[in-house]
Amino acid sequence: MTAEALKAHLERPSSRIPGFYRLDVTDRHAELARRFDLSDEDLSVLRGLGSDGLSIADKMVENCVGVLSLPIGLGLNFRVNGKDYVVPMAVEEPSVVAAASNTARVIRASGGFDAAVRESLMIAQIQILDVEDRSRSRAALEEAEERILGAANQRHPNMVARGGGAKLLEVRLPDAEPDMIIVHLLVDCRDAMGANIVNDMAEGVASLIEQVSGGRVRLRILSNLADRRLASARCAIREELLERPGHPGSEVAAGVVEAYRFAAVDPYRAATHNKGVMNGIDAVGIATGNDWRGLEAGAHAFAARNGSYEPLTRWWRSEGRLFGEIELPMAVGTVGGSTRVHPTLRVLRKLLRAERAKELAMVMAAVGLAQNLGALSALAAEGIQRGHMSLHARSVALAAGVAEDRIDDVAAKLVRINQFSASAARRIADGE
Ligand code: MEV
Repeated sequence: MTAEALKAHLERPSSRIPGFYRLDVTDRHAELARRFDLSDEDLSVLRGLGSDGLSIADKMVENCVGVLSLPIGLGLNFRVNGKDYVVPMAVEEPSVVAAASNTARVIRASGGFDAAVRESLMIAQIQILDVEDRSRSRAALEEAEERILGAANQRHPNMVARGGGAKLLEVRLPDAEPDMIIVHLLVDCRDAMGANIVNDMAEGVASLIEQVSGGRVRLRILSNLADRRLASARCAIREELLERPGHPGSEVAAGVVEAYRFAAVDPYRAATHNKGVMNGIDAVGIATGNDWRGLEAGAHAFAARNGSYEPLTRWWRSEGRLFGEIELPMAVGTVGGSTRVHPTLRVLRKLLRAERAKELAMVMAAVGLAQNLGALSALAAEGIQRGHMSLHARSVALAAGVAEDRIDDVAAKLVRINQFSASAARRIADGE
């Protein structure tokens, strides 16, 4: 560990909280208050008290009539670039948080994740139509690059002062549309996701672009295929650590690679493989107030960038280790949007401690890789139903109206008899 990584590590609470899952929610809160310096007010926000959720919601969407809650679990054991992160995940599906935490523990024991963000540029698209001579218009647009970037940046002096703003202009000529030009403005949004800034810039330079190109501007909107804002993460796991009951680590590692090969050749499998990746990434996206539909759109478009739909991760073995990597668009922010509006998001930020957008993007890439490994190693060994259904059984019991103090007991019996219907839950609860 470098001196800098050691310092960062010492200053941050550990993401290892052994036995956290065995505590009840009140004790988990006490543990968090102690480790992360949460106030009583923070804890009441986590309990869903102390803030008027409905009146906040009413300011967020139209025709608001209610609020839908999601469970927030903590992804534990994450160590990314030598720093520990406790990762909030908002998700309704059982097993997602447990799988991420368990896999992150195994990866941590092999040195954690190495993650990176190379450049961080959002794309604003401007569609120009009725262009008579594309080569001439293209040359004129390229010639006017500084003027167009200047006009875009004039609208956002604060962003420019922070080192961001429109940096580059690219001109694209689609083969199938001979009178169309597409202009891309590449915008560094610093710690914002940047949708509003980018859309505003695209709209703001439209008339200048019409003048310069001689064409007619139609759409002016960001692209969710944020392939100039990619995040990547890697891990190298000692295979013996992958052992599962009845399955030695080397067998699990081989199974993971075989599962990856399946996804690499078959889009039907790749879609499910990537869904598993996004289980984790979306959950963090939601818990940090980011636009998870944008993340989804970017991830799947990127997966199809080579003309066929491919897995977002890659796995291979070498010298007793299982290697994995992920790379995908990660248009996320730590400022702006709803990130500061919602009181629960404010408390979750205190746990995650990722202040910069690039840092959050790297953590989310690591979560995607961990989530994928969790799914593939279970699929390659015992299958996912055993773990999944034992957690799902509690939801079944709850939905069947079983009293709260009987839920664990009824769920355990459902698992034992391998039946997961509401009627089975009610029969057990009634002692039949
Ligand atoms: C379920 O939500 C996700 C998985 O189907 C992912 C996968 O198959 O890789 C388990």
